[in-house]
Amino acid sequence: MNNAEKKTILVTGGAGYIGSHTCKILAQEGYRPVAFDNLSSGHTWAAKWGPLERGDILDRAALDQAIEKHRPSACLHFAAFAYVGESVTDPGKYYRNNVVGSLTLLEALRDHGIDQFVLSSTCATYGVPDKVPIDETLTQAPINPYGASKLMVERMLADFYAAYRLRSVALRYFNAAGADPEVEIGEDHDPETHLVPLVLDAASGDREDITVFGTDYDTPDGTCVRDYIHVSDLARAHVLALQALEQGQTHRAFNLGNGQGYSVREVIASVERVTGRPVPVQFGERRPGDPARLISNSVRAASELGWKPQISTLDDIVFTAWEWHKRRAQEKSRRSFPSPSDS
Ligand SMILES: NC(=O)c1ccc[n+]([C@@H]2O[C@H](COP(=O)([O-])OP(=O)(O)OC[C@H]3O[C@@H](n4cnc5c(N)ncnc54)[C@H](O)[C@@H]3O)[C@@H](O)[C@H]2O)c1
Repeated sequence: MNNAEKKTILVTGGAGYIGSHTCKILAQEGYRPVAFDNLSSGHTWAAKWGPLERGDILDRAALDQAIEKHRPSACLHFAAFAYVGESVTDPGKYYRNNVVGSLTLLEALRDHGIDQFVLSSTCATYGVPDKVPIDETLTQAPINPYGASKLMVERMLADFYAAYRLRSVALRYFNAAGADPEVEIGEDHDPETHLVPLVLDAASGDREDITVFGTDYDTPDGTCVRDYIHVSDLARAHVLALQALEQGQTHRAFNLGNGQGYSVREVIASVERVTGRPVPVQFGERRPGDPARLISNSVRAASELGWKPQISTLDDIVFTAWEWHKRRAQEKSRRSFPSPSDS
């Protein structure tokens, strides 16, 4: 298939962690991904499966320009701020970027006649669930501005479908983890807040230790339990959601997780097994707003999209993250010791 025959997909946040993995799978599936990213937390090196348009979703003119230039048939929308703690101390930043930014984007797509849209939503829209596993029918009652901002966008999608027939899928991810199995890209956040890379940092000596927040939860070992889902499996779900939209899907939400919970202690044990190194651990108080258990029921995505995670055991997920961790460390040390020919 030559470039002219490929469908172009606008990928906001395509230079970020999950967006870049999705661009890779899109390209493998015969699409032409165009990353649209302001690089606030993304990386130019991560956008390598199509053009990168540097721009902000709050900038309507930049969006219009990118859409007119590339004529996408659909948009996958990853661009957002995603630090829960920061959203509590600086909610305005989150409502502006995640809500106003998404509204600006949706209006631009509507005005250009693009009617297929996939949203990165989150299990944080459920807040503290009254039962687990969590299915899509559970009440969404977010307990922080980050979750609330995503729920507002989900609401906009319902209204944009009703009023303008803009068709959409909201994918509510649980805890994204791991890296591209071919080790071409992976997670690189600053600051990093996700458990797996933090524990890997502690295993490799890049940080002194890892703090476990709370050991008295109502879980088998007292630490919080989460559902870790491999980033490439999330990426594949986006392509399936896109294909469902191409086949007429109207407006739907799907949970994306493995359906299996692992405690913080189990993640640490997995990192120790995979790396063969001990992880120094400290124990701290519970953090406010951390539910004891978040586990997905993803039966809807399996039955309606045909989605099945391929890298589903914790050790396999951690293994890919460890391979990426080592590669990134090698590249960083090479960059800080340039050879004479680099100068
Ligand atoms: N990582 C997870 O576990 C997880 C879980 C649930 C939902 N999500 C959602 O998935 C999406 C991607 O998350 P991620 O972990 O890849 O984060 P990330 O920070 O790696 O990626 C986000 C990308 O969006 C870009 N961006 C942010 N604001 C922008 C703006 N105004 N204009 C243009 N680009 C902008 C950033 O530069 C970055 O490249 C986010 O919407 C996040 O809320 C992530």
